[in-house]
Amino acid sequence: MAERIYIFDTTLRDGEQVPGCQLNSIEKVQVAKVLEELGVDIIEAGFPVSSPGDFNSVVEICKAVTEPSICVLSRAVQNDIDVAAQSLKHARRGRIQTGIGTSDYHIKYKFLSNREDILERAVMATRYARNLTEEVQFYCEDAGRTDNEYLARVVEAVIKAGATTINIPDTTGYCTPLEFGDKIRYLREHVDGIDKVMLSVHCHNDQGLATANTLQAIMNGARQIDVTVNGIGERAGNTALEEIAMILKGRSELGFETGIDTTRIYHASRMVSSLMNMPVQPNKAVVGRNAFSHSSGIHQDGILKMKETYEIIDPKDIGLEDNSIILTARSGHAALKHRLAELNIELTKEELDIAYEKFLRLADVKQDITDEDIMKIAGRDLNDIAPVRLDYLKAVSGTGVQTRAHVRLIVDGEYKSAIMRGNGPVDASIKCVKKIIGRKMLIREFFIQAMDKGCDDIGKVHMQVEYNGSRYYGFAADTDIVKASVLAFINAVNRFIK
Ligand code: KIV
Ligand code: ZN
Repeated sequence: MAERIYIFDTTLRDGEQVPGCQLNSIEKVQVAKVLEELGVDIIEAGFPVSSPGDFNSVVEICKAVTEPSICVLSRAVQNDIDVAAQSLKHARRGRIQTGIGTSDYHIKYKFLSNREDILERAVMATRYARNLTEEVQFYCEDAGRTDNEYLARVVEAVIKAGATTINIPDTTGYCTPLEFGDKIRYLREHVDGIDKVMLSVHCHNDQGLATANTLQAIMNGARQIDVTVNGIGERAGNTALEEIAMILKGRSELGFETGIDTTRIYHASRMVSSLMNMPVQPNKAVVGRNAFSHSSGIHQDGILKMKETYEIIDPKDIGLEDNSIILTARSGHAALKHRLAELNIELTKEELDIAYEKFLRLADVKQDITDEDIMKIAGRDLNDIAPVRLDYLKAVSGTGVQTRAHVRLIVDGEYKSAIMRGNGPVDASIKCVKKIIGRKMLIREFFIQAMDKGCDDIGKVHMQVEYNGSRYYGFAADTDIVKASVLAFINAVNRFIK
């Protein structure tokens, strides 16, 4: 039987403290609900004493979320703990996380204090919090750089004072995996009462080791792990939820499981990224745009024969439709044939050879080979056959005018137009397209990327549109980003309307 690993998500606390990632209360509730659907066990909802806004958000999250426990952060200070307890009064299950720095760096230079005084403050804070809530999590800040013997003394003392979970953070991302695993094992072997509490770890990614350290901690006895969606968090971030969840799922021989519904990972990732204005790096493990894109000819050939040759995660397991084969100068005949088949084009062997020659010449000078290019290479023009085409677009916006757009489309050869208002020219124009098409479509992902740097630059728009439970990818590029956005939307629409 697999052993359960409890997921403590701190996207809304450690993640949200990153500059530029701040959310308002409504957005925080939205994220908390997505975390609940994802199946996290505990949500760290904020640091209530830090601001009235943070306090209110915690209150709202407690009202909105029913399944996970709600945890809030406090320093080892009575007022912090009082405010933390008040913020949790609507929680079905509330937890206070309190703690203090235990490394000599923190003791000597942050607190200008000594080990005995810090130990006493840790015990007082734990006792105080335990009088206010059933669940008390104690963190030893900078445990990664704390001397193991002293760390064990603090942990033992706070367990006696009533802590129910012990959190061991590698606050500065300093440890190597073996070192961190040894620290966890040391605590298990040297602390009285450690088996009666939950042992948790909280790793930072300063040296790119957060996931490895978390995994090693699990192998050595940690049963709760602190994570964030997309690995966001202070400085280089925290352990990424999606990475550890997929490792434990994919490598079942390790003998661990989580309660995460991994098919919701991609959705959660994109939602957090767009609400927090924090793009996911394209090569990010599990959720990056390129994580399931294959571009070299050898890889594409293998993938088309059997996915498992180059894919260890099934994209469907994280809620993605499928992998993608990116056509580049390194792609082979098989990849081109595959893309042509997706576009419903069948060529004879001779035609395919000619198309492949043309494709290679184009791929040498052009980075993004689009469906339109492929159609042209194969002697078809996408614009002539796409069921929906843009015929006319005019968007009016600026100061003192009401933003409006007028769009005319050719749908199956028939001209149809609409005029709509919106909260910006892109919004108004896309509303026009939606009105004309008349189907329920939701934009799930929307990226505008400049190719170069100047304001005369070409904007590339990547979009994912949800229709009837499936997602469709759209792409377009133009110097006019409103036009590029509309074309990307139409490009996605044409994938399901055929
Ligand atoms: O990194 C850290 O030490 C923390 C604690 C507050 C858990 O975020
Ligand atoms: Zn942290």
